[in-house]
Amino acid sequence: MAGRFITFEGIDGSGKSTQARMLAETLGARGIDVVATREPGGSPGAEQIRALVLEGDPDRWSAETEILLFTAARRDHLERLIDPSLAAGKAVVCDRFADSTRMYQGLRGPGLREIVDQLHALMIRREPDLTFIIDMDPSKGHARAKGRQTAEERFEDFGADLQVRMREGFLALAEDEPGRCVVIDGDRTPEDVASDVLRVALDRLA
Ligand code: ADP
Ligand code: TYD
Repeated sequence: MAGRFITFEGIDGSGKSTQARMLAETLGARGIDVVATREPGGSPGAEQIRALVLEGDPDRWSAETEILLFTAARRDHLERLIDPSLAAGKAVVCDRFADSTRMYQGLRGPGLREIVDQLHALMIRREPDLTFIIDMDPSKGHARAKGRQTAEERFEDFGADLQVRMREGFLALAEDEPGRCVVIDGDRTPEDVASDVLRVALDRLA
């Protein structure tokens, strides 16, 4: 597990944060040095960008500007936390990473996915060793996400249509990159999902 980078992806409310936390706790309890983090955010500067991008009016930023903001946040997170932690031999478990930009911004209009990919190639480059795609029916995920009360609502009201396309996008990504991505059925108890996640992580990375 040393120096391995694990990410969790999926639509809002699929249970990524819960699973990222559970995996980090389990690995930590087994004596593995783990850093648990999230995007957008994970470093002080990136957390400030998080507040800019997730709060306020839904039309506050264009999709293009969002691509720049999420990538800027990711670059800071990478420089200050992810890369140094991996270099120190720690395992890094991250709730969302570049696949979220590929889907959430990349699917919002023609040509946007290319911009996401080009900016990633220019500024980020790193890919996780293992990505869990927590799969979930969008209406169930939406109901779960709506149950939380936060100021971070800019993204909570994407139409059902876009949520369906993002779910399909995440599943297509997993098909394209089977060496990196594993799809996990998120519509079960947190403990059942977590035991699948742990088994795959140990199989693939230990
Ligand atoms: P995400 O990070 O994907 O948005 P969270 O882990 O924050 O999802 O979970 C969203 C909500 O659903 C939270 O209130 C959480 O407690 C709940 N939840 C998470 N996993 C499950 C599960 N397997 N079954 C039922 N509820 C869950
Ligand atoms: P997150 O806090 O993980 O929300 P949730 O727990 O509801 O899944 O992420 C906040 C929102 O930011 C989420 O709606 C997805 C969005 N997002 C992007 O649009 N692009 C990105 O690159 C990232 C990392 C997140």
